[in-house]
Amino acid sequence: MKKIMIIGAGVYQLPLMQEAAKEQEVILVAPQINSVFEDLAAKCYICDVTDKEKILAYAQKEKIDGVITDQTDIAVRTVAYVAEKMGLPGIGYQTACLFTDKSLMRDKCEELNIPTLPHVLARNLEQALQFYNGIGADSVIIKPVDNQGSRGVQQVDSESDLRLKFEEAMRYSRSGGVLIEKRAKGREFVVESLCLDGKYYPLICGDTNYFNIQDAFAAKTRLFPSCAEKSLVDRVQALNKKIVTGFGLIQGISHSEYIMDGDELYLIETAARGGGVFISSDLISIGTGLNTEKFLIRIALGEQDSAPELEYRNNACGYMAFFLPKGEVIFADGIDEVMQLPYVHRNLLHDIKIGLKTEFQLDKTTRYPVIVSASNLEELEKRMEYIRGRINIKVSDGENENTIIWE
Ligand SMILES: Nc1ncnc2c1ncn2[C@@H]1O[C@H](COP(=O)(O)OP(=O)(O)O)[C@@H](O)[C@H]1O
Ligand SMILES: [Mg+2]
Repeated sequence: MKKIMIIGAGVYQLPLMQEAAKEQEVILVAPQINSVFEDLAAKCYICDVTDKEKILAYAQKEKIDGVITDQTDIAVRTVAYVAEKMGLPGIGYQTACLFTDKSLMRDKCEELNIPTLPHVLARNLEQALQFYNGIGADSVIIKPVDNQGSRGVQQVDSESDLRLKFEEAMRYSRSGGVLIEKRAKGREFVVESLCLDGKYYPLICGDTNYFNIQDAFAAKTRLFPSCAEKSLVDRVQALNKKIVTGFGLIQGISHSEYIMDGDELYLIETAARGGGVFISSDLISIGTGLNTEKFLIRIALGEQDSAPELEYRNNACGYMAFFLPKGEVIFADGIDEVMQLPYVHRNLLHDIKIGLKTEFQLDKTTRYPVIVSASNLEELEKRMEYIRGRINIKVSDGENENTIIWE
């Protein structure tokens, strides 16, 4: 048994925690730790996951053999920092910074001769206004340069809009920078890949579809494989390989997002960890047979000597997600039935019970996802449609009864 430190204890780190606890002694570090995680951990430290010095001190005290996170960006720098300082397997702190800063990602693309959308890193409203008034695009996207979960990501359609929304984006930026970028209007792709000893292996590539809610930059579905024609998917895959290897990821899983504008493909962001919402734990393994958690644990411990066997399966899978309106759940039907369907995998439906108080926030954090698999995309769509028809939830805000938000 070895000692592995896991940083982060949110719902999407649970698959990693469960796998690690089977064979290793887990030292868990997170700002909040619930009893499910506590029961699996050998030892818990309550700490902000970005506090890299404090966490390094814990890691040294515990003499850990490896450090890891998954499905969240917030802990990626700390993981790399602790590994680097202790001489454990990792991606390097500088690489971790590149993969968690949207402005550095664009600088690096330019260095690699990869086209980027017109953008600027603004530190104050004046810089933002200057860029906005200069680019001549009708709309731009503003986003904190180093956050995740769509917090603070907004569309801006006018100068007054920018004045109004800039501060909100700044509020979520850790380093005090906001990226302002021409808004691309095409389709979006999501790509997962794997690296080992600097060698790149493609995993899955899919389509992202968004809620039709202003400034809710949260996906309502992510479906694998992409339904785009093969030549386009090949272009996405080639670009992803160029970016992930060009950015210097030597090991681990990467999660990248691309958007089209006209015929050109652009990087939205790339992360040095598996995709959240159980993409890493469930969708990668449904698509390729990889046990992602096992792989991540083995590389963190320096035990993965050869490339894992990937078996690209000719199937389909994805997540569907919904929001609940703000209030209190007064009626919930179909949830148990849906959770028991053989093609339904991990999900967060078990949290929904009569009496549950709900928040509705325009970011990804309050979504309820369900992972679904099928033998092809057509069947996947049918199964998702069936699930939409079966789940019936009513939420009261004291005056009105509202229902699930699927679109
Ligand atoms: N330049 C852009 N043009 C159009 N949409 C964008 C642009 N940048 C971001 N978006 C939209 O906002 C979403 C969230 O932005 P992203 O940079 O991925 O932030 P987060 O790290 O919070 O996920 C993207 O998935 C995409 O839908
Ligand atoms: Mg994103």
